[in-house]
Amino acid sequence: MAKKLEDYPTAEAYLPERITLPALREAAQECRGCPLYKIGTQTVFGEGKRDARVMMIGEQPGDQEDKAGKPFVGPAGKILNDALAEVGIDRDEVYVANAVKHFKWEPRGTRRIHAKPNAREIQACKPWLTAELQVVKPQMVICLGATAAQALMGKDFRITKSRGEIFRDTQYAPWLMATAHPSSILRMPSSEDREAAYRALVADLQVAAHELGAAKTGR
Ligand code: URA
Ligand code: SF4
Repeated sequence: MAKKLEDYPTAEAYLPERITLPALREAAQECRGCPLYKIGTQTVFGEGKRDARVMMIGEQPGDQEDKAGKPFVGPAGKILNDALAEVGIDRDEVYVANAVKHFKWEPRGTRRIHAKPNAREIQACKPWLTAELQVVKPQMVICLGATAAQALMGKDFRITKSRGEIFRDTQYAPWLMATAHPSSILRMPSSEDREAAYRALVADLQVAAHELGAAKTGR
């Protein structure tokens, strides 16, 4: 009989003894905590400095990230970089991670189409994310889209209702916000909608940039 999702041990079984970023990254390459390791090419672990003040969390690697082994290097990453540059947040200051570390996809002709990770897969992968948060201890967490927000804030979290809201003193960081996923902007059919959604993303990130600036100068 085929192995069911609940038969997989979750990422917990693959965590290294010493929790450091290099040890985590290496151990995550071997993760078989859920069935997605069979679908994605490789584990796409988070990237950034251990002392990054901001952690941004996406959903899962996309087609290009899956091939490159790095988060946010494709079209969604380009939007994120543009938006960060616009509000003056240095990408170097940001640790970028995904809630789920393997690319889940379905074939459509010769293309690989993004498939949404389910709640169990998100939970199975969460130990990696929790460990990254534990090591980096960011001042600020920004969840990009519902998957990341629900991974941290619970499955009832709705971006439509709570985007841009600031959550203080959470178990993950002193300051947490969720905003739209850059890919959701790319999927919009009209250029007017895309522009409006991009402006809304920039407006949310502007709030984060202000907070960071204020923390820097102690005001
Ligand atoms: N979308 C994500 O959520 N993460 C990536 O790394 C790329 C696209
Ligand atoms: Fe492990 Fe996460 Fe990949 Fe599943 S998606 S195999 S839990 S790294």
